[in-house]
Amino acid sequence: MVLSCFTCNTAQHQQRPLQPLMLLLLAALLSNIHCYRAAVLAPNINACNAPLNLPSAEKVFHCCAPVPSYEPQLFRPSAGSAGAAVRIRRPSHLVTEDYAAKLARAYSLMKELPAEDPRSFTQQANVHCAYCNAVYNQSGSSQRFQAHLSWLFFPFHRWYLYFHERILAKLLGDDTFALSFWNYDHHNGTSIPWFYSSTSYPYSILSNANRDAPHVLPNATAAVDLVVAPYERPRDAQLKENDNTMYRVMIRDAQTPEEFFGWPVRQGEDAKTYSGAGTVELNPHNNIHRWVGNKSSVGWKDMGTFYTAANDPLFYAHHAELDRLWEIWKTIPEHLEYEDEDYLNAEFLFYNEDAEMVRVKAGDASNTTLLGYVYEDVAMPWMEATPERRSSGPATLTDANKMCEVGEWFVETPCSIVVDRDPTVTKNSPWLHEHLVLTMQYDTSDLELLLYLNYPSANVTTDTGCEEYLFSMTLTRYVLMYQDMVAEAFAGNKTQRIDMSRRLHAVGLMEETSVVITLVPRVSPSPSPAGRVAFISASMEYTVPYQRSDTSSPSSVI
Ligand SMILES: *[C@@H]1O[C@H](CO)[C@@H](O)[C@H](O)[C@H]1NC(C)=O
Ligand SMILES: *[C@@H]1O[C@H](CO)[C@@H](O)[C@H](O)[C@H]1NC(C)=O
Ligand SMILES: *[C@@H]1O[C@H](CO)[C@@H](O)[C@H](O)[C@H]1NC(C)=O
Ligand SMILES: *[C@@H]1O[C@H](CO)[C@@H](O)[C@H](O)[C@H]1NC(C)=O
Ligand SMILES: *[C@@H]1O[C@H](CO)[C@@H](O)[C@H](O)[C@H]1NC(C)=O
Ligand SMILES: *[C@@H]1O[C@H](CO)[C@@H](O)[C@H](O)[C@H]1NC(C)=O
Ligand SMILES: *[C@@H]1O[C@H](CO)[C@@H](O)[C@H](O)[C@H]1NC(C)=O
Repeated sequence: MVLSCFTCNTAQHQQRPLQPLMLLLLAALLSNIHCYRAAVLAPNINACNAPLNLPSAEKVFHCCAPVPSYEPQLFRPSAGSAGAAVRIRRPSHLVTEDYAAKLARAYSLMKELPAEDPRSFTQQANVHCAYCNAVYNQSGSSQRFQAHLSWLFFPFHRWYLYFHERILAKLLGDDTFALSFWNYDHHNGTSIPWFYSSTSYPYSILSNANRDAPHVLPNATAAVDLVVAPYERPRDAQLKENDNTMYRVMIRDAQTPEEFFGWPVRQGEDAKTYSGAGTVELNPHNNIHRWVGNKSSVGWKDMGTFYTAANDPLFYAHHAELDRLWEIWKTIPEHLEYEDEDYLNAEFLFYNEDAEMVRVKAGDASNTTLLGYVYEDVAMPWMEATPERRSSGPATLTDANKMCEVGEWFVETPCSIVVDRDPTVTKNSPWLHEHLVLTMQYDTSDLELLLYLNYPSANVTTDTGCEEYLFSMTLTRYVLMYQDMVAEAFAGNKTQRIDMSRRLHAVGLMEETSVVITLVPRVSPSPSPAGRVAFISASMEYTVPYQRSDTSSPSSVI
């Protein structure tokens, strides 16, 4: 569904304001179109393809689950169905050596199972490849099944970890066993937890050779970077930035279900068309994958790409943290989960601890107590990292501010653009969403482009703890390739839509007819820049709320 009600472009001043009445009619029409359609159903596992989009240097392989001889039954959690005791998932940096040794034993037992056993480590890792590299079609549709880039992200991974944890518990013969979570939003949890990178028995089973060497203990000195960029910050500055990031993805930029969980995807739809990932999926999820994966290895294996991510035991601690962030988000006032039937009824298939395949529903994942576990409370200093407003009134550009030229490559010096907007549209129809649609050309293996509003002096040392910080565009070679994306593109054009309404309010620019956007590349200054970008175009777009209006598919990389 495409609706670009009104566009004002920097290049051409063709202003065609729509009548408010017409917009209301359109809104009514669209809300009817977007009522209940059909949920994405569990995939047909008899028809299994090779993973899509393997890098050309990778041998083709299959990651299909064993096909059961029976129709998988629906599993619905109810009090007592998930074990007798409530299991407590603890922060990894606070667990005892005994716990770490027990976790190592559980993974040893899992790795000792024959590879064809659906509970074996190989099969557990394959689950991620299967649901994320589009090996299955959605049931009743020829559309591929993708568990990322949409509202399926959180419930899919919650169920995945649920069964993984129950299998480990069964292998240990300990019903109280729980995973621990990599607590990287806490300052004491910003290294890979020690027992996941130890070379000594029994912990070494939790280690993985395919990680980015500078980020592995004992050599790692930098804190985990939640906005991974080749330009690394000193540890203290990084910790502060991580707090800013957490505040943004959990509070500032995640006020609606669409923003936090990601966009709806219904039966027959292709999630990636809309680039509908929620805030936390993009960051820290994607960025922790990138930070851990081995950058010398094809695809940035293991954590850096879908088809191998779950080969690293650290994957499960990473996703336990993300699962916990869902629980925390819910506790913040006015944060509501989806109630859409197509969300509640979306389905996945998993093997349980008894090696039986079961069907589960997204809506049944909401209550972790019913699933038999809770998270230990930990301090969250980032809750206080409220952004400050640095500008007062519209910025004035001076000779010191470089302007971006269309098509001109840049990397060392940030540059600014002026984007026209129509204050009468938002005045007459305040319920419309205002988006910046920005297209950049890139030629790089690894570059992060930071965008600021009304802040022309922003540069690579400027932090992001301000209302003027907008968004960070990742322009990089590999990493979590989605279906139909060109795995190895180093160059291309990427269009990003960035919600502006709340930012414009926060910086007091609702009345302005144009705004200044500053583009700041974050690239390692030495030994040589890892790439370059050029500005292509920018415009503001006004759309009816909750309508996805981008027609262009996202670029080759996220
Ligand atoms: C699965 O989807 C692909 C791509 O959409 C399509 O070519 C293929 O025919 C589908 N297979 C089945 C069994 O529906
Ligand atoms: C971090 O760990 C140190 C050393 O164990 C401890 O003293 C400090 O209180 C911890 N910080 C927080 C915020 O928990
Ligand atoms: C740590 O650095 C040393 C010296 O560069 C290197 O020999 C060693 O392999 C590194 N360790 C890890 C775990 O990367
Ligand atoms: C990373 O990948 C390269 C290339 O496959 C490999 O030589 C190296 O051992 C891997 N691991 C680390 C820690 O660099
Ligand atoms: C979650 O499940 C528990 C256990 O059945 C129940 O006590 C609790 O009320 C449920 N919470 C919500 C929010 O429904
Ligand atoms: C970057 O901006 C800061 C203030 O925001 C300023 O102090 C610093 O000189 C700038 N650095 C460069 C290289 O322009
Ligand atoms: C990117 O856009 C520019 C300007 O429109 C165009 O010249 C170029 O061919 C595009 N590149 C790709 C890879 O599409």
